[in-house]
Amino acid sequence: MKNLALILAAGKGTRMKSELPKCLHEVAGAPMVEHVLATAIAAGTDGQVVIIGHGGDQLKAVIEANRDEVVFETQGEQLGTGHAVQIAKAHIDQSEKTTVILYGDSPLIKEDTVRALMAKAEELQGPAVLGFDTPNPGKYGRLLTQGDELIAIREAKDATAEELNVTLCNSGVIACPSALLNTLVAQINNNNASGEYYLTDIIELARADGHKTGFILCEEAETQGVNTPADLRSVSAEFQNMKREEFLSQGVKMWNAESVYFHHDTQIGAGSLIEPNVVFGPKVTIENNVQIRAFSHLEDCHICENAQIGPYARIRPGSEIGDGARIGNFVETKNAQIAKGAKVNHLSYIGDTEIGENSNIGAGTITCNYDGVFKHKTKIGQRVFIGSNSSLVAPLEIGDDAMTGSGSVITENIPASDLAIARSKQVNKAGLAKKFMDRLRALKSKQ
Ligand code: UD1
Ligand code: CA
Repeated sequence: MKNLALILAAGKGTRMKSELPKCLHEVAGAPMVEHVLATAIAAGTDGQVVIIGHGGDQLKAVIEANRDEVVFETQGEQLGTGHAVQIAKAHIDQSEKTTVILYGDSPLIKEDTVRALMAKAEELQGPAVLGFDTPNPGKYGRLLTQGDELIAIREAKDATAEELNVTLCNSGVIACPSALLNTLVAQINNNNASGEYYLTDIIELARADGHKTGFILCEEAETQGVNTPADLRSVSAEFQNMKREEFLSQGVKMWNAESVYFHHDTQIGAGSLIEPNVVFGPKVTIENNVQIRAFSHLEDCHICENAQIGPYARIRPGSEIGDGARIGNFVETKNAQIAKGAKVNHLSYIGDTEIGENSNIGAGTITCNYDGVFKHKTKIGQRVFIGSNSSLVAPLEIGDDAMTGSGSVITENIPASDLAIARSKQVNKAGLAKKFMDRLRALKSKQ
């Protein structure tokens, strides 16, 4: 193993006022620790160790459900960030190159930032710290620097008044050549204002031993950590901002990006337009040049090139919308494969259904897929025309080029090219409407 990520996640998170371990609170539908793991992997670490403590079993169970390569170490008592790193000694020993330390409650750190920090540690052959400049340095540890050299990190509690004026702060993310990291953390003591083992002490320890130390800077927004529900709200809002910027830079168009909500795993191709007030649930992938019109809600679905969805469409799990297909207003699809060029334009429910190429589903068509106990499939061929307000009672197969008369309740399969009409025949009674109304009006005038 070359590069290792250590993710600190042992803290209790008392101020979240929740039974859930802090790092399992979700941002854009994924636990915070999952964001950090995904970033660590994307940034090129080959191994990931999560330091767990409070709620450790629950944290482990959730992470292991998705990622079997992640390793855990338990920190029984939280004696400080330096102590948390000491716990992982054996894993750090196995890393031939660099170890990067991340926090499980700081999910916004970017992959490129982590890469740049590891590169800095390799260049220095010493510890490199991720810092940020802020007008409100508050309780953050301060970076004491000389030019581009980092002299020390001073925790706010231990700082002099002069040091507290420093606005360069420690994000907590630190990279260091692995072998050196182990020798440095072994020397950390707890002689400080908090009585904790500070990881930040490795800077002065490294310098005392003749090693180079340095830092790189990132935007403050990336370093935001979560301690309270209010922090979770602002981190979630910032995540949405970052996603919007990312999509815009990839060629996705939005008229009012602030009203669009993404899931952590949303994928959208270049040239696609997302109109206002669209919400993406989990596992949505959208190809190029798709139009998602206003007020649509999508989850666990795939939308192919040039398709048009909405306005006011609900695309539910298992929906696959083909090239150039159209799903219009007040249409709900679920487990539906809708082929190239097919259209479901108005007021329909399409569930457990396959629709062939270029078929047209009339307004108000409903697939009756559920009998109260079982779900059944509807299979519609190519170039089929379903008349408006048809009820398609599954299980059902409709052949290519078939048609249904509007208002039909279709319960039998329809062979290819046939027209099925399943409604009572129309009878016209001569003059009866007028006669009937005249009688009612006469009755009313007598009252
Ligand atoms: C730490 C840094 C500080 C930095 C700040 C950024 C130290 C000594 N200080 O301070 O310079 O500005 O982060 O947010 O490193 N954790 C464990 N085990 C422990 C202690 C902490 O797993 O024994 C985890 C926590 O759950 C948390 C993270 O490490 O996710 C940071 O710990 P925290 O106590 O919040 O550190 P700060 O005092 O904020
Ligand atoms: Ca903190």
